[in-house]
Amino acid sequence: MQNTIEHPAEIVPVPAAAREGTSCTLEQYEAMYSRSVNDPDGFWAEQGARLDWYRAPTRIGEWSFDPVDIKWYADGQLNICHNALDRHVAAGKGDVTALIFEPDDPQGETRKLTYAQLLAETIRMANTLKKMGVQKGDRVTVYMPMIPEGAVAMLACARIGAIHSVVFGGFSPDAIAGRIEDCTSDWVICADEGLRGGKKIPLKANVDAALDKVAVKAVLVVRHTGAPITMTEGRDHWYHELGADVAAECPCEVMDAEDPLFILYTSGSTGKPKGVLHTTGGYAVWTETTFRYVFDYRPGEIYWCTADIGWVTGHSYIVYGPLQNGATALMFEGVPNHPDHDRFWQVVDKHKVNIFYTAPTAIRALMREGTSHVVKHDLSSLRLLGSVGEPINPEAWRWYQENVGHGKIPVVDTWWQTETGGIMITTLPGAHDMKPGSAGRPFFSVCPQLVDGDGGVLADETTGGAAEGNLCITRSWPGQARSLYGDHDRFTQTYFSTYKGKYFTGDGCRRDADGYYWITGRVDDVINVSGHRMGTAEVESALVLHDLVAEAAVVGYPHDIKGQGIYCYVTLNAGVEPSDELAAELRKHVRTEIGPIATPDIIQFTPALPKTRSGKIMRRILRKIAENDFGSLGDTSTLADPSLVDGLIEGRLNR
Ligand code: PRX
Repeated sequence: MQNTIEHPAEIVPVPAAAREGTSCTLEQYEAMYSRSVNDPDGFWAEQGARLDWYRAPTRIGEWSFDPVDIKWYADGQLNICHNALDRHVAAGKGDVTALIFEPDDPQGETRKLTYAQLLAETIRMANTLKKMGVQKGDRVTVYMPMIPEGAVAMLACARIGAIHSVVFGGFSPDAIAGRIEDCTSDWVICADEGLRGGKKIPLKANVDAALDKVAVKAVLVVRHTGAPITMTEGRDHWYHELGADVAAECPCEVMDAEDPLFILYTSGSTGKPKGVLHTTGGYAVWTETTFRYVFDYRPGEIYWCTADIGWVTGHSYIVYGPLQNGATALMFEGVPNHPDHDRFWQVVDKHKVNIFYTAPTAIRALMREGTSHVVKHDLSSLRLLGSVGEPINPEAWRWYQENVGHGKIPVVDTWWQTETGGIMITTLPGAHDMKPGSAGRPFFSVCPQLVDGDGGVLADETTGGAAEGNLCITRSWPGQARSLYGDHDRFTQTYFSTYKGKYFTGDGCRRDADGYYWITGRVDDVINVSGHRMGTAEVESALVLHDLVAEAAVVGYPHDIKGQGIYCYVTLNAGVEPSDELAAELRKHVRTEIGPIATPDIIQFTPALPKTRSGKIMRRILRKIAENDFGSLGDTSTLADPSLVDGLIEGRLNR
């Protein structure tokens, strides 16, 4: 079944300025891509050679997707912290600014840390962790605001061979406890409080509440706002006290390339969040190489990724990618609309940012506020724009390029996932024409393939042609996740069993005749809310934990700003009356259970959920109703109670 899909989409040519001094022209991309798939070992041996290795790898890619066993650079030894910091200091670049910190409050103090200073801070944190008893292989939970110490905590763990598990600062105590428990982490690093949009985030208090449920050996607390907090004697330590008198040297632990580097929890279609496991060597090379080519970074430039270090984008493109490239990266504690809707542009202007990488949801939110906030600021320093996290609608793309990029600079729309470690499909700024709404072409070594429901191949790079289907990747790449922490079977089951021998991304996708990929969104029960991945099952579990709820089904629906909103169908226990108050209470309940990012947008009470006679909830129908798409509900005759549908539609229309 070959689909022929027309893409009348506009083509935006590579801007002239992007061609000058680019690290990769179209001819180079084509030659390099072809080499990367025909001789992946030769290609990745060369890319990896930019890093320092204690023992240079001779084995490069060794992998199988059936059974699942993935290794890259298996006999190599290195340390990613050395490659991110010490290597640049040793090369005489210690005075180059590594991180610029821009606080939440525009009147607050900007901080700049050179590579030498960031190294010294990392050594201090590393030695403090050692003093607490943290050893190689231990899991350390990091629950930090967007301050340099967040990056320092990650780098310090990497330096001593501890495995970091960063938990986004917006997650609830229950979510923290679950993650601590899942990876049996004995250590936590947090701050007293975080600040976002003028609001205080009680990080230490949240950790305290989590630790009522699960025990750890010690908590290291970074003082940030200076707010009064509770310190538990014997368990909690102030970083500025414990780290005051540690040694100024801390040799990097020699890591095997396949030693774990970090765990990052992400939502799946079923069950609790999965601890995606990344290892050292392949991830280091993948983030170094993708950052280098996609952002085409040039010495002296200021690069700003607006993500949070609690997400994979922050891991790969605030910390490891930029720092391994010796770049100057900006870290922003705040939000786009505080104190006003021009905050992003004010920061770009203030720090003369050259490369700006953000999420479509932020662009859509700012677009709504009009261009007056943009034109107030001089954005002429910008050379490259990026987008990540969810499909960007062409309208938002154009607004971004025309108003922020003055219609002159490239936009890279980068598709990737927590599990891929780094960027997989994108245009390269000096090489590829752009098509608003399409992520572009595969990065080096990436072999995308579109398959139908039965696994039949519709299109890939060898067949060419246009098609639409489910997006798989057929070969391994160095940045690929190796497992789910402690559950390799679930890893195999989740990603490699739908289409045996292939990595299934969970995304739907179209390929046009020019070989451009257009991600259409998730095809599983995962929704993407403001670029954040959310398992509908997680929200359902949270809802049914409430005493008055009998059953819940959660689906996504189109939302102007968030991309997708969270739509909850809720059945209450017998005798309980629906009310607006109860809906508000349930919303609050989900925030407490998971965190504010999971707050339901719409709660619709229904006397029952539509089920098949065998008791399976018919989500397809619920999705269509939430989308206000009543015309294509499909066959409802298999429902145990078809009359329910009318009530559901009526309930939807009343919203
Ligand atoms: O559906 C895709 C969407 O985000 C999912 C991955 O989410 P997460 O692991 O949280 O990582 C987000 C940051 C890399 C994907 O399965 N997604 C990510 N980037 C894009 C995207 N969808 C369309 N276009 C993108 N550029």
